[in-house]
Amino acid sequence: MRAKIAVMTEDAPDLNALDEAGRILKEGGLVAFPTETVYGLGGNALDPGASMRIYKAKGRPSDNPLIVHIASMEDLYRIAADVPAAAERLAERYWPGPLTMIFPKKDIVPSETTGGLDSVAVRFPDHKIARELILRAGGFVAAPSANTSGRPSPTLASHVSEDLGERIDMIIDGGQVSIGLESTIVDFTEEIPVVLRPGFLNLQMLEEVLGEVRMDPGLSSENEHVRPKAPGMRYRHYAPKAELTIIEGDPAAVQMEIRTRTSREIEDGRKVGIICTEESRNVYPNGNVVCIGSRAQEETIAHHLYEVLRGFDDSGVDVIYSESFYTPKMGQAIMNRLLKAAGHRVVEV
Ligand code: TXA
Ligand code: MG
Repeated sequence: MRAKIAVMTEDAPDLNALDEAGRILKEGGLVAFPTETVYGLGGNALDPGASMRIYKAKGRPSDNPLIVHIASMEDLYRIAADVPAAAERLAERYWPGPLTMIFPKKDIVPSETTGGLDSVAVRFPDHKIARELILRAGGFVAAPSANTSGRPSPTLASHVSEDLGERIDMIIDGGQVSIGLESTIVDFTEEIPVVLRPGFLNLQMLEEVLGEVRMDPGLSSENEHVRPKAPGMRYRHYAPKAELTIIEGDPAAVQMEIRTRTSREIEDGRKVGIICTEESRNVYPNGNVVCIGSRAQEETIAHHLYEVLRGFDDSGVDVIYSESFYTPKMGQAIMNRLLKAAGHRVVEV
């Protein structure tokens, strides 16, 4: 089976194709679709069989729960058993948007969808195609990122076809996504809300609405013995095939270190990839130099991260060196993904 591909834009969704996609989901099939963060692989969240098909298509362990996507605020109360006032304030401010919240689940949500947990992750995406699809599918669409388990999340429909084209029913191609990193996840099943995955919404933006917020201690690379609470954050992830090393420190020293290592690798007959920014692209004479974006516009770095990592798989480099990107707003989310992609291989200079 080869997925049917429907091309459309967010401004002009193809309603006939979306009707068909909605029908496929209602019948238990799988449809990949764009959101503002990354492409999702959708199935009917209330159908245990559909959730099992999602795990199988991705090659994902079935104890790694799925996010349920909704397209109306009322639908939240049909699946979440307890929604605290703080979560309602956060929803008012940031939904629809790149925010996922976790609540105790109601019985209507099958345990297959939640990986056996008694909580459910819910997101109301800010993307017209996604919302029109969710409404046509009956209101509840389970959707992990639409990549093969372990690979970088898809930011283009071509990434989805590459990974899942033979395993799902339909792909809605809505062009490149706008953010490029997965949603921020906030857990409301504890007394104080906990960030389980950083994203476009950073700690400061959450604190403005919620007051006290904690970071899951399992996220810090200094706490390697503490398991992250979100099962998906425990796996090796976003990883390119080549060995990726992050070089950190004073910019001039970092550039020098990357140049030296690159020359040495090339002498030894290896192909080297380098990840840098507009600000430094001209300082690397050798290697396969890829500019990820501009430090002056940090959202460009987030936007291109997964595309760059996938690109190295295609260009067949043996090793990759990357600068680090601790930018002011999205730096935490960008570095969380980059460190995982590098298996926490960091050299300080
Ligand atoms: O931006 C996004 O969130 C994208 C788009 C498609 O919406 N989706 C996405 O899904 O990133 P996925 O499955 O790749 O990541 C979901 C993460 C996983 O780390 C999973 O373990 C965690 O959320 N998660 C889901 N339900 C949970 C729960 N009840 N408790 C703790 N973690 C949960
Ligand atoms: Mg994922």
